[in-house]
Amino acid sequence: MRILVTGGLGYIGSHTVVELLANDYDVSIVDNLYNSNIHVLDRIEKLTSKSATFYQVDILDKEALEKVFQKEHFDAVIHFAGYKAVGESVAIPLTYYQNNIAGSLNLYELMHKYGVEKIVFSSSATVYGDDFAVPFKEEYGLGTTTNPYGTTKKFNEIILSDLAKAKQIGSAILLRYFNPIGAHESGLLGEVPNGIPNNLVPYIARVASGKLDKLRVFGNDYDTIDGTGVRDYIHVVDLAKAHVLALDYSFKHEGVEVFNIGTGKGYSVLEVLHAYERACQKKLPYEIVARRPGDIASCFADCSKAQALLGFKAQYDIDKMCEDSYRFTVMNPDGIDK
Ligand code: NAD
Ligand code: UFG
Repeated sequence: MRILVTGGLGYIGSHTVVELLANDYDVSIVDNLYNSNIHVLDRIEKLTSKSATFYQVDILDKEALEKVFQKEHFDAVIHFAGYKAVGESVAIPLTYYQNNIAGSLNLYELMHKYGVEKIVFSSSATVYGDDFAVPFKEEYGLGTTTNPYGTTKKFNEIILSDLAKAKQIGSAILLRYFNPIGAHESGLLGEVPNGIPNNLVPYIARVASGKLDKLRVFGNDYDTIDGTGVRDYIHVVDLAKAHVLALDYSFKHEGVEVFNIGTGKGYSVLEVLHAYERACQKKLPYEIVARRPGDIASCFADCSKAQALLGFKAQYDIDKMCEDSYRFTVMNPDGIDK
């Protein structure tokens, strides 16, 4: 079976392609290399001793994307391609709506035209907004999103649900990721943020490698274990494996299904920092600063639905996540540049 993976050279996409190849799927990747590079493809091939077909195509370019659908038949799509920076989405919302919504519409239209019935979509815990109490459950539905990025995820969920109701898509699996971190344990694949990282673990990784002087902890007056924000961090390889299970599920079921993908356990900022200190075996400096606007105190998942229906349970703990992140950081001081 051949799977089209959009955004397949990105952080989560590349780890997922490795798991798909390991599970004997044939893989075609569409990526415009906006936030990735071609060396990732070599590394995937090195890791799996298999190859994936690569198309350097922007999903906004419908004609180019259609050529891909004309060339090959796909049994399913996993759709990662999109922009993901919350702050940037507030500054340039139109760019986010264009890429994440117009790009997705091109893809969905071509899937319908070429009879591709199954899709797994990268959604986010951000669609819960701050309307609900933790742990977040799928049945809560969609909350009030607080930034354009989150709104693009919410719209995509609604669009795919409508397409499934209209039977213009056979099945749509919406995966709401919590906080993916870590890297492939080979040190060959991982996250390479552009510029100064916005997210916690990429930032800590730069402190650990001496590129940034200290972590700024955004607030220690939340109602949490130590006052700092609590999140449900999940190892990117666990997340990648969840996609394979979701794909298998989509081949056996019709309609829309939403799943939280996390570990179900929350860690505070300071707990993550200390786990990273254990991984790199040194003290990492930090200071407490003001809360970051828009942050919530706690965000973690109820993962029972994914366990019951997909058979998914995350394997890796916070120490393994930090160890693998640190290994990738040490092995790739300039990112994935060769
Ligand atoms: P990423 O930026 O590493 O990967 C996205 C990939 O899509 C990149 O390789 C990029 O070049 C490509 N891309 C972007 N726009 C494209 C376009 N118009 N045409 C073709 N390719 C395009 O991001 P990631 O962390 O791997 O995230 C993958 C998906 O998961 C995204 O949709 C993101 O919103 C979602 N998600 C990520 C997180 C997270 O914390 N990383 C959390 C929740 C959801
Ligand atoms: N934090 C700091 N200092 C930093 C960076 C982060 O203290 O330099 C804190 C934040 O305040 C928060 C926690 O670390 O308490 C995690 O912050 P991240 O930015 O790593 O992650 P978020 O939970 O804010 O956001 C992430 C993704 C979003 C996604 C959301 C829910 O970046 O795209 O998870 O899935 F929408």
